[in-house]
Amino acid sequence: MSDSLQERLSSCWSRSDEIFDLLEDGAIYEQPIGLRHPLIFYLGHLPAFAWNQVCRGLLDMPSFRPGFDSVFERGIDPMGVDHFDSPVEWPPVEDIIEYRDRVRSALIDSIEPVADRAESNLLADRGRIFEVAIEHELMHQETLQYLFQQLPLKLKRRPADMPSYRFDGAARAGRIEIGGGTVVLGADFDSVPFGWDNEFPAHQTMVEDFSIDRTPVRNAEFLEFLMDGGYERPALWREDDWQWRQRVGLEHPVFWSMIDGNWTYLTMFDAVPLEKAGDWPVFVSHAEATAFCRWRGGRLPTEPEFHRAAYTTSDGGTRRFPWGEEAPRAGHGNFDFRHWAPTPVGCFSDGDSAWGVADLVGNGWEWTDSVFEPFPGFSAYIRTYPGYSADFFDGLHKVMLGAAWATPTQLIRPSFRNWFQRHYPYQFAKFRCVY
Ligand SMILES: [Fe+2]
Repeated sequence: MSDSLQERLSSCWSRSDEIFDLLEDGAIYEQPIGLRHPLIFYLGHLPAFAWNQVCRGLLDMPSFRPGFDSVFERGIDPMGVDHFDSPVEWPPVEDIIEYRDRVRSALIDSIEPVADRAESNLLADRGRIFEVAIEHELMHQETLQYLFQQLPLKLKRRPADMPSYRFDGAARAGRIEIGGGTVVLGADFDSVPFGWDNEFPAHQTMVEDFSIDRTPVRNAEFLEFLMDGGYERPALWREDDWQWRQRVGLEHPVFWSMIDGNWTYLTMFDAVPLEKAGDWPVFVSHAEATAFCRWRGGRLPTEPEFHRAAYTTSDGGTRRFPWGEEAPRAGHGNFDFRHWAPTPVGCFSDGDSAWGVADLVGNGWEWTDSVFEPFPGFSAYIRTYPGYSADFFDGLHKVMLGAAWATPTQLIRPSFRNWFQRHYPYQFAKFRCVY
């Protein structure tokens, strides 16, 4: 984080603008996933959130557009429609953009006044409140991508610098024995520049010996499960997963489509024969991943097991990243929008962990079977945004770790935890089995 705060804010905003520019005219009014807001909400939500945290929340500045501050205040968790409260008519796009630009310049003007409060305010100290705004926006850059993923291809335009798809170079499959031992989950508040409430405090836990798939499950492997009646055999599914599968009529991963009798993989911008994308990781819900693991005779890893495979060494050491201490770069994995699509599993061998496990960080988040829960000693320190984690400690959400192709680099750290409910198939989430 050597760039100035102003530069980091500007580059975050440029990325957001670039992402909204992928939409063809009129697509901003679409609502590609029924349980999320229409896309136009997010155009206002990013500045409203930053305003509400930094300018209104910390600096107590008077609002210049109170209606927007509240209409765009909160997103929704895709658990149901009960708190979905959408206005009948959204404000004109030009008004939202004007609001956004005014908020952006107010944020730049807030850098000094926030710094002046560093001694007396935990969130002003080390510019934490700006990190709240930046990381919130970075996370939405990814979630916007999985919303866009569900739009018809004709409503999107590809970025000018998008590289061609990569189909070759996958690592071979296999199982790796991981010796048991301790892992440290989470971080101590003062040891990291920034973290969310659920990352604190650090604590140690023990893991038994286990073996784990060297690479995440590929589309080609998942097709075998499907051809073997994977979506038709209730015995492979947990009971409530099976009921959900039946209720929504899910018969294949949502990223796949049967077109003219051929299985097709839908990237953000193209329809690719599934056969070509056979070595890309399959993206599925926790429920589908669990059924696959049962079919294969394994199970999903726990959060501590993922950490053991990713961040420890066989001689008792720990690493900051699977590959070592070096800051994440292109050769370590598929993240930060470099490919705008998945890549063959394990093709970035520089990113392998000390145990030789491939593709743990990047390409897609990895499902664990651990319920999203607070670590011992948790406190919701981000008092201006108290619902960040606590609302989701409901036993229904599972932890996902690592990173996806659409995850910005700043979010790559061992303590970062993502979570989703088990019956949600849209996010870029891959998985592997342990035995
Ligand atoms: Fe949000």
